[in-house]
Amino acid sequence: MKGLILSGGKGTRLYPLTYTRAKQLIPVANKPVLVRVIEAIREAGVREVGIVVGPTAAEIQDALGDGSEWDVALSYIHQASPDGLAHAVKISQDFLGDDPFVMFLGDNVIEGGISGLIRDFADKQWNSQIVLKEVENPSEYGVAKMRPDGSIEQLIEKPKSPPSNLALVGIYMFDHHIFEAVNAIKPSARGEYEITDAIQWLIDHGYMVFPHIHRGWWIDTGKPTDMLDANSHVLEEITPCLHPTAAVDSDSSVDSRVTLQAGAKIVNSVIRGPTIIGKDTLIENSYIGPFTSIYHGCQILGCEIERSIILENSSVVDIDSTLRDSLIGRNASVKRSDGKPSGIKMNLGDHSTLWV
Ligand code: TTP
Repeated sequence: MKGLILSGGKGTRLYPLTYTRAKQLIPVANKPVLVRVIEAIREAGVREVGIVVGPTAAEIQDALGDGSEWDVALSYIHQASPDGLAHAVKISQDFLGDDPFVMFLGDNVIEGGISGLIRDFADKQWNSQIVLKEVENPSEYGVAKMRPDGSIEQLIEKPKSPPSNLALVGIYMFDHHIFEAVNAIKPSARGEYEITDAIQWLIDHGYMVFPHIHRGWWIDTGKPTDMLDANSHVLEEITPCLHPTAAVDSDSSVDSRVTLQAGAKIVNSVIRGPTIIGKDTLIENSYIGPFTSIYHGCQILGCEIERSIILENSSVVDIDSTLRDSLIGRNASVKRSDGKPSGIKMNLGDHSTLWV
C-alpha cells in the first residue's frame, strides 16, 4: 500500500493567508495540517508516500524534506496546473505503479486516523473504498447512492434532491484499475478531471466500490471558519503538556488543558485550555481563552484572545476588545493607536476581512 497526498491547488478560499503560503502548511493546534495527514498515513503503516504539489512546491519541499523526520519516504510529484483530483492521480501513475493506494487531500483533518479504513480495504477484494460521512446539508457535497448490498451505485455532485445524507470525505482507496478510469474521463463543466467521475466510471464498468462510513468529525479546512473548527477539535484531542523550558510566573494561572511549547513564557496572565502556546512565545498581562493556538515567536501583551489562531512571529498588543474567532497570519502586528484623531488605522492585505 502506498500513500498519495494532494497538495497542489490554489487555496483561493483562504486568501490572503494563502497568497504567500501553501494552505496545507497552515498549522492547526500548532502543527501544519499536512504534517497531521502524513502522521495519519504513517500510523496506518504506510511508509511510501507521494505528494502532488503545485505552485507552492518549493515551500512544501522545504518544510517536509525527504520525510525522514516522520519516518516516511516522500516523493514529490509536480502538477503543472490544478486540473482536478483525478488529474493528480493520472500524473502519479509512475510513482504508484500497480500498488493499491490511499489518497488523502492535504487540507483535510479527520478524527481518529485512518488505520481502520486501511485494514478494511486490505481485507477485501474491492477495487475502491470511499469514505462517507453523514452531513446535515448533503446538497452542498458529493453524495453517494447505495445498492442494497452496501456497494456504491452512484455519486452525485451537489444534488438538488439528495438520495442520502452521506457525503464524500476527502480520503479514497484505489487499486490500479483507477488508471483506466482517470485516462478515460473527460474534464467536467468547470474544466477539471473530477475524482467523482473517475469513481463513477469504475462503478459503470463493473468494478467494486464500497464505502466506509466515518462516525467522527472530519473537516475540509478550505475556509477560515473551517480552520478555527479544526483547531478546536484537534485541541480537544491532544494530550496537554508543559515543556520543561516553558516558564510560568507566580502571578499567572495556567489550567491543566494547556500545552506550552519550548521556551514559551507566561507572565501575569490567565490561560484557559484547551489551548496551545508556541515556542518562544511571550504572553504578558493577558487572558488567553479556550480553543486558541498561538504559534511560535509571538508576543501577546495586554490582550484578551479566545478561539483564535495566530501564526508565527505576530504580535497583538494593548487591544481593548477581546479578539475572538480570528485568524491572524505571520509577522502581523495588531496594536492600539493612541494618536489623535482617534479611529481605526490599518494596513490590510488583499482579500482581508476586518470586523469592527
Ligand atoms: P480544493 O480545496 O478543491 O482546491 P484548492 O486547493 O485549489 O482550494 P480553493 O478552492 O480554495 O481555491 O483542493 C483539495 C486539495 O486537493 C487541496 O489540498 C489541493 C489539492 N489539489 C491538487 O493537488 N490538485 C488539483 O488539481 C486540485 C483541484 C486540488
